[in-house]
Amino acid sequence: MISRLWPRTPCISPSDGQAVRRSSFLTRAARGALLLCIATPVTAHAADAPVQVTLDASRPGAVIDRNIFGQFAEHLGSGIYGGIWVGKDSTIPNTRGIRKDVVEALKALKVPNVRWPGGCFADQYDWRRGIGPERKPAVGEPNSFGTDEFMDFAQQIGTEAYISVNLGSGTAQDAAEWLEYMTAPTDDFLGAERARNGHAAPYKVAILGLGNESWDCGGAMSADFYVNEMKRFSHFVTNYNSAQPMKRVAVGPSGTAPTYTDAVMAAWKGRSYSWDIQGLSLHFYATGGWPPHLPSTGFDEKDYAALVKDAIAMDGMIKTQSAIIDKYDPEKKVALVVDEWGAWLAPTPGSNPGGLAQQNSQRDAVLAALSINVFARHADRVRMANIAQMINVLQAMILTDKNRMVLTPTYHVFHMYVPFQDATFVPLSFDAGTYTASGITLPRVDAIAARDKAGKIWIAVTNIDAKSPATFSVSLAGVKATKASGQTLSAPKVDSVNSFDAPDIVAPKAVSAKAAGGKLTITVAPASVTVLGLE
Ligand code: AHR
Repeated sequence: MISRLWPRTPCISPSDGQAVRRSSFLTRAARGALLLCIATPVTAHAADAPVQVTLDASRPGAVIDRNIFGQFAEHLGSGIYGGIWVGKDSTIPNTRGIRKDVVEALKALKVPNVRWPGGCFADQYDWRRGIGPERKPAVGEPNSFGTDEFMDFAQQIGTEAYISVNLGSGTAQDAAEWLEYMTAPTDDFLGAERARNGHAAPYKVAILGLGNESWDCGGAMSADFYVNEMKRFSHFVTNYNSAQPMKRVAVGPSGTAPTYTDAVMAAWKGRSYSWDIQGLSLHFYATGGWPPHLPSTGFDEKDYAALVKDAIAMDGMIKTQSAIIDKYDPEKKVALVVDEWGAWLAPTPGSNPGGLAQQNSQRDAVLAALSINVFARHADRVRMANIAQMINVLQAMILTDKNRMVLTPTYHVFHMYVPFQDATFVPLSFDAGTYTASGITLPRVDAIAARDKAGKIWIAVTNIDAKSPATFSVSLAGVKATKASGQTLSAPKVDSVNSFDAPDIVAPKAVSAKAAGGKLTITVAPASVTVLGLE
């Protein structure tokens, strides 16, 4: 791996002056933040020396599986009820009970898969209470959004279903019958029941989760106990829809402990014909210290740096677990599936703490970009990831309040990164330098590149430094390009947010840059994310 996230030596110090030319087409607010240098020689102060990036298109890496841009929608807080489901009789515009505004927004993200119904919720979910004309509520769960509604939602936004079955309180038979309900033809008893409930064609289940955090909320199982359960579920839970191959994902590590990974992978290596898995789950949240306490609004640069530091630690988590998996699976058949990740912060004041509601700021945008970059660098092993969570919960794409909806900075990053879905990783080499805030030292910048299926090269650059802009000078050896265009996401402050009353405080803006003499030069704002396509 040539791209280097961690710097060896500091090459740039923050907080120096800016020797860049300001672009004239920017709004006044953006001008304060975004400094765009169009192929301009930067006669700078040493501290503003461009980050020298070399792009090596002759050595393509792995394909960045589009599934790393997956989402997670749990029955938690207002993630489902209010966020997705408002009911058919709602005055909020909906299609069969599902919010139209949310569907439209999500379609633009080309969401590859959605994990549902949990989370911890999945390991106590009784799917039968959520089908048919008469729903059977549970405490705090009306069950009006069940399997058929989820599949309708998945179809409306154009995504694949990642179903987590109940391996905690449920039986293998319960889970097998759920899959039968979803995927069997109509001459099957449960397939016929699905047809009576309005959907004759078998559903497609692309991914099956075999439990969730079974070392804790999923049943506090020892690794060996879990492996025995997981093997039974893997064998007996059958997908009957041959039009959709289904991948199975087993529970992976608790924190950094190797126990589950070792046990699951050792079992996998010695597996018989009767069961298999194609993925191992990893959950990793950036918190800045447990329990989650960092505020999601009104924070300072220290809290910004603390959270970004945690996000970057994802790299080490993946390396540690990958090293264990490599022992059993050097051919990388089993994917590492980071099916819960994101910022977990203090709940929004006044909200029910159990609902895990939090605002989403420019800090989240930087965190999202850095995390996606980590996944992309590990694309040979990390072939799926699901940000937690899609709507109104934790690091959400979208916030809703009754009939109002707002797109978060994280949404915008996911939108800007769409060209990276299924693109081939292109190595970049650079020295990231350092940025220090309140004693926390981080790399100053980050960047990745990839070539899409049409042959176009995309570069994503993140300026982590919250105080100073950063100039990137990218050598494009062997690549014919005269310019680059794309979008940049910056904000007046690192804690800037979009609210229902001011929804566009953090919004992407168009940028372009010329390439001259085989070099592309661009200067970006502090704490910003920029994605450019070479032309
Ligand atoms: O995403 C919130 C919770 O975090 C999930 O339910 C659980 O799997 C994890 O601990």
